[in-house]
Amino acid sequence: MSDLTFNKVAGAVLATGLAVFGLKSVSEGLFAPHEVEKPGYLVEVVEEGGAGAAPEAPIDWGTVLPTADIAAGQATFAKCQSCHTFASGGANGTGPNLFGVVGRKPASHGGFAYSPAMTAKSAEIPVWDDAHLSEFIKAPQRYVSGTKMTFVGLKKPEERINMIAFLRSQGGTLPVPAPNPAPPPPAEGAAPEGAAPEGAPVATGSTATPPTTSGGPAGQGVGAPAPGAPAQQATPPGKAH
Ligand code: HEC
Repeated sequence: MSDLTFNKVAGAVLATGLAVFGLKSVSEGLFAPHEVEKPGYLVEVVEEGGAGAAPEAPIDWGTVLPTADIAAGQATFAKCQSCHTFASGGANGTGPNLFGVVGRKPASHGGFAYSPAMTAKSAEIPVWDDAHLSEFIKAPQRYVSGTKMTFVGLKKPEERINMIAFLRSQGGTLPVPAPNPAPPPPAEGAAPEGAAPEGAPVATGSTATPPTTSGGPAGQGVGAPAPGAPAQQATPPGKAH
């Protein structure tokens, strides 16, 4: 009897343990992989909406290239490898060999039959520099309409930066450009705005809103009083400080 009871208790404990472990591993198996996949697809959908191209901040190549991850760029080249070789003297495949492509004139690699679209592009761009390569690799069909390169593109700026750093390391002939000297002016512009918040912004915000909303109704007969009223309201908060 006691043996049986012990077995039952032990069995119950084991079963509970198994159930807990089972649930844990099942839930991990179910949810972990999906979380990784979904964001990638979501990003693509958003960018294909059309707004993705314009809003992207310009890349300051002189700043990002020195710290780019060349090894990561080479790893990403797996996506290009079905069509391109990158080693010096490598064969042309579906696409031209890319050794020395940074600084090379577009559509100029010997022995490759470029599309008319890419040949036309070479009249616009003297050489493949960072910015033009980035635009092309980001969305080949959009940048060179009619290109034979049937590749969806690298949407993430970091991927393109690392890729171009890698291509540069394979016979690139352009020096890394100087970093943009842009930062100082924005900092000066931000300082006055930063100084104002001490007391003014709150008052400004409250005065700005009332005139616009009440301006329509009141403005018909009493245009002047409306601006004056909000200003008086704004004074007390300033004194409070
Ligand atoms: C499905 C095949 C394919 C894939 C994948 C592909 N390319 Fe291409 N690529 C081509 C073809 C074909 C051309 C020639 C385009 C033309 O003539 O219109 C080309 C042209 C280029 C050029 C211009 C070369 C020149 O001499 O002017 C660059 C740069 C380039 N590809 C980079 C890449 C990179 C980087 C990747 C990976 C992120 C990639 N390609 C993926 C097929 C491909």
